[in-house]
Amino acid sequence: LNTIPEAVEAIARGEVVIVIDAEDRENEGDFICAGEKATPETINFILGGRGQLCVSVLPEVCKKLELNPIVAHNNAPLQTAFMTPIDIATAKTGITAGERSETIRKLTDPDMEMADFIRPGHVYPLLAMEGGVLRRAGHTEAAVDLSRMAGLAPVGVLCEILNETGDRASREDLAEIAKANNLKIISIESLIAHRRVSEKLV
Ligand code: 5RP
Ligand code: CA
Ligand code: ZN
Repeated sequence: LNTIPEAVEAIARGEVVIVIDAEDRENEGDFICAGEKATPETINFILGGRGQLCVSVLPEVCKKLELNPIVAHNNAPLQTAFMTPIDIATAKTGITAGERSETIRKLTDPDMEMADFIRPGHVYPLLAMEGGVLRRAGHTEAAVDLSRMAGLAPVGVLCEILNETGDRASREDLAEIAKANNLKIISIESLIAHRRVSEKLV
């Protein structure tokens, strides 16, 4: 695995990184990039993971745009926080890599407003907890933390990675994918440990 500073530098450069969560959690690898760096090319690459492409945002974004939980009672085992799906107002259908890229990048614009989006759309916002991975050890929070640590808006893109047979990619599969695509690969456990030390919480 790579170090957290290596991954943060990659995120700052606009690269995709692979982030794995704990073996006793989802045991999944997601492609992650910063929302500000979500170009059509990068979104097209990430969609190759064949999971569910989502964008992690902080509570203030949901409040401003009136993005609400998609169910009144969340009984997902890990409390995955799906919010109102949206498209950029100029979208024709909202599903292309280009239109999803525009939707995501608008979410990083401090001047965005309700009228900038169509709802329901095709980009799934996930509500990240304030405090990031120190509060919840999920990809949702890792995507926001990595973007923020890279000096970018706290908005992150994520998509799970499936293998050729459509199953969850194993750690070995993920290491191979990282190598083949020259991507950094990190774990959420090491992100938590890095933040604890660098923020002097231990
Ligand atoms: C959304 C998901 C993914 O697992 C995603 O990684 C976010 O979930 P979490 O924060 O729980 O890891 O379910 O497609
Ligand atoms: Ca999940
Ligand atoms: Zn996840």
